[in-house]
Amino acid sequence: MIRFPSFGESLGYAEYVSAPASDLAAKPRHLDHIHAAAVPMSGLTAWQFLIELGHNEQNPLQSERHSPVPLAGKSVMINGAAGGVGHLALQLAKHEGARVIAVASTRHEAFLRELGADEFIDYTKTKPEDDVRDIDLVVDAVGGPASGRFLRTIRRGGALFPIFPLGFAGHDEAADRGVTVSATQVRSSGDQLAKLARLLDSGEVRVAVDSTYPLSEAAVAHERAEAGHIQGKIVLAVGDAIADQSGQAGVPSVQWPPRMRGH
Ligand SMILES: NC(=O)c1ccc[n+]([C@@H]2O[C@H](COP(=O)([O-])OP(=O)(O)OC[C@H]3O[C@@H](n4cnc5c(N)ncnc54)[C@H](OP(=O)(O)O)[C@@H]3O)[C@@H](O)[C@H]2O)c1
Repeated sequence: MIRFPSFGESLGYAEYVSAPASDLAAKPRHLDHIHAAAVPMSGLTAWQFLIELGHNEQNPLQSERHSPVPLAGKSVMINGAAGGVGHLALQLAKHEGARVIAVASTRHEAFLRELGADEFIDYTKTKPEDDVRDIDLVVDAVGGPASGRFLRTIRRGGALFPIFPLGFAGHDEAADRGVTVSATQVRSSGDQLAKLARLLDSGEVRVAVDSTYPLSEAAVAHERAEAGHIQGKIVLAVGDAIADQSGQAGVPSVQWPPRMRGH
């Protein structure tokens, strides 16, 4: 994820691009290129919301600087937990010592428990906002106008981090309930990628690939994204990268890097 968010209007996909060295980090040794490519956007988003912001640029989404909150021993509920940001946020929160409730649709339960979720809520059967109370932090990786429904699940003094904060309309209710609502816009960071790479290499954090497509099929990849219910990340591959994968191009499958803990 390079020169983000300052890349400008001419965004797109390409085989070659120039990048400032400060936006780059070495690929984790134990990940192939497909899995490594799946990390930066979602990994940096989860890192900057939950671990360290890492810069002092003006936040375009709110006047105050976003501050991560201490997670050790805290309860964290993650909505949209199976998606790109969600599955990495879950693992970072666990790594920091939180107890995590993952909210997603039915088919993601085994996946999220495997990643360390202490509890799973299937939102197609149960509304988390009706059942859960006194949470320290809700990370809403779906976000948008519906995020305010989570305010009632959070204890006074707790926090709500909507990853997609646009349209959030619950600021008055948040003030009444004594809940902090805070968001940030992700930024490129080679330093933070290097820290994430260490966790990926040790197997403490894993990255899931929903599906891979050759660059020439970027439009089909976007159709997959629009269909929703993503588990991990969609990756566009250049050159021979897809040939190295066990999964077929375009077929949703989770491909795990080996767990390297203890090796
Ligand atoms: N602030 C920033 O800088 C920043 C950075 C990156 C992304 N974002 C934003 O963050 C959001 C998430 O991005 P992403 O890449 O993680 O998206 P994603 O990979 O598409 O994941 C979204 C996940 O949400 C789940 N979901 C959909 N509707 C749901 C619902 N009603 N309740 C619970 N889960 C639901 C989906 O699966 P199931 O429905 O099957 O559970 C899916 O796994 C996007 O809006 C994106 O624009 C913001």
